[in-house]
Amino acid sequence: MSTAPLPSTSATLHPVGLRLQGRRVVVVGGGSAGYRATAGLVHAGASVTVVSPAVVPALEAMAGSGALSWVRRPYAAGDLADAWYAVAATGDPAVDGAVADDAERARVFCTRPGAPETSSAQPAPTDAEDPPRPERGAGRVVLVGGGPGDPGLITVRGQQALSRADVVVVDNLGPRALVAGLRPGVGIVDASKLPRGRAMPQEEINARLVEHARAGRLVVRLKGGDPFVFGRGMEELVACTAAGVPVEIVPGVTSAVAVPGLAGVPVTHRGLTHEFVVVSGHVPPGHPLSLVDWSAIGRLRGTVVVLMGVENAAAIAAALVEHGRPPGTPVAVVTDGTTATQRTVRTTLEHLGTTMRDEDVRPPAVWVVGEVVRLAAQDVPAPADASCAAQRTVRG
Ligand SMILES: C[S@@+](CC[C@H](N)C(=O)[O-])C[C@H]1O[C@@H](n2cnc3c(N)ncnc32)[C@H](O)[C@@H]1O
Repeated sequence: MSTAPLPSTSATLHPVGLRLQGRRVVVVGGGSAGYRATAGLVHAGASVTVVSPAVVPALEAMAGSGALSWVRRPYAAGDLADAWYAVAATGDPAVDGAVADDAERARVFCTRPGAPETSSAQPAPTDAEDPPRPERGAGRVVLVGGGPGDPGLITVRGQQALSRADVVVVDNLGPRALVAGLRPGVGIVDASKLPRGRAMPQEEINARLVEHARAGRLVVRLKGGDPFVFGRGMEELVACTAAGVPVEIVPGVTSAVAVPGLAGVPVTHRGLTHEFVVVSGHVPPGHPLSLVDWSAIGRLRGTVVVLMGVENAAAIAAALVEHGRPPGTPVAVVTDGTTATQRTVRTTLEHLGTTMRDEDVRPPAVWVVGEVVRLAAQDVPAPADASCAAQRTVRG
């Protein structure tokens, strides 16, 4: 195999930005380096194919939601066909070298996170490269609510913590694009919990937080939404505190309010609704593990917001109607809130189950019941951010 000349270490880099929307990009490697690269590429709208026999749970979740294509096998010659850009991130120098050589021959720019000096392209430095590093020996955990997905919806304090982190422990519903912007060398721990799929046990997450902090590291636990809204944040706080590890809490924008809001549905409205309740739908009414008083919720006049309730939507809607909510009460189901694929489906309580099925609604979704749904504008204007340009509304 002939080897194409590789760029020299001393070659001057020419800064340029790539507009990758809709363009094929191939990421070889499904570990944390591949995840990190993919997170940024998907946020940029690239059409990403990941080639790897196995991937971390966060990448599996993205493949499951259609955010990327996953080719489940080792890299093979020809995989870069029609690509505009490639990332060689297997961590195996022989494979990464072969990818880089193939890319060079095909005139496809290629980044090797493990060997940037031999890459034909390097990611631009992130804002996080300059902040002062924390003193060693002062290990601690910062529990950060990352918001519902759009990287712009994290708080300033959360962003500051990320920019100083030594290790970031991430969930699959957190703002992935922020992972792509971490300083080089920051450790990434994938603590995704996939619905009915792979999941890092909570005890192991707690243990990792404590272990890294005790080693003197600044650990950011980056969670989706707010850490204390169905986020198991308290369990992590208690585990760290019991181990003598200091914890700072940075609240986040919860999907329970933000996702309906971005679809044009306010959870309260003057003169219409003076209450809203947020409920977990992960177990159906009547289930022995259910802690929800569905009869009380059925009697409410106000807004009901259901998280983790795709699978049990029909059973929950039936319980609400049984306990007094009119069958014609409007419902809005919002999936993939704040992302490029955000979608709103409108229906009524009596038709919720069939609409979910007919529209092939998949998690993550927030659904909202109540008169506030009628307030949503006919066509919700897409946010200025191009990443949200594909939002669409469907009536069930
Ligand atoms: C385990 S709960 C975590 C909630 C999170 N702590 C919060 O405050 O938003 C996960 C559920 O939140 C909802 N969710 C989170 N992000 C979402 C998004 N971007 N779009 C739609 N639903 C979302 C879905 O109901 C999902 O099943």
